[in-house]
Amino acid sequence: MDARQMKIKAAEAALAYVEDGMRLGIGTGSTAEEFVRLLAEKVAGGFRIEGVPTSERTARLCLELGVPLKSLDELPELDLTVDGADEVDRKLRLIKGGGGALLREKIVASASERMIVIADESKVVDVLGAFKLPIEVNPFGQFATRIAIEKVASRLGLTGDIVVRASGDGPFMTDGGHLILDASFGRIPDAEALASELNAIPGVVEHGLFIGIATLAIIAGPSGARVLTAA
Ligand code: A5P
Repeated sequence: MDARQMKIKAAEAALAYVEDGMRLGIGTGSTAEEFVRLLAEKVAGGFRIEGVPTSERTARLCLELGVPLKSLDELPELDLTVDGADEVDRKLRLIKGGGGALLREKIVASASERMIVIADESKVVDVLGAFKLPIEVNPFGQFATRIAIEKVASRLGLTGDIVVRASGDGPFMTDGGHLILDASFGRIPDAEALASELNAIPGVVEHGLFIGIATLAIIAGPSGARVLTAA
């Protein structure tokens, strides 16, 4: 089974949790896109959901495939969000934001009663941090914000480069008009402490640590999909 087939397996398994009439948060990334494709087939067969996309990219795919969409303002309370992740640990803590959509992803998932993560085995880790932690920052004062992040990291014993994510010749801009700083910490032993310290920095809009948000993960490997609940 190749990587794409594993993503499809995880997406298929997540679809079983989606009930007719649900208000559904729809994630961003290559795994979430497999979910959108399968969801669109069900919708074409008469299944009814109302979707809230977590990015412009996901919104475009949904519109193209006929998945009905609403804004989060129209549907501020959701039943379920299904989304991918860059890393997931055994307590269902996540790193997200590899696709740059972490702010909307976190807002949508937090407005949902449940969040199901869909991923392949390569995303499961013992300790978060091998994947660069995306930190969304306001462009205003970005250097001051970076220095503040470095100070917080150093207090927590974390080191590593923190670089502005690029796209083509310029910086990558999020759907909200912000920058992403990718922090190569390598290992984040105390994700809760880092999350709350980052939240206290005024220029940090949001960070990619999702703690206490995911309720279940569906992890696909070569022999099929398994369900992971918080250890
Ligand atoms: C988007 O910002 C991310 O949070 C994605 O959900 C995450 O990067 C997983 O993407 P893939 O499914 O493409 O690995």
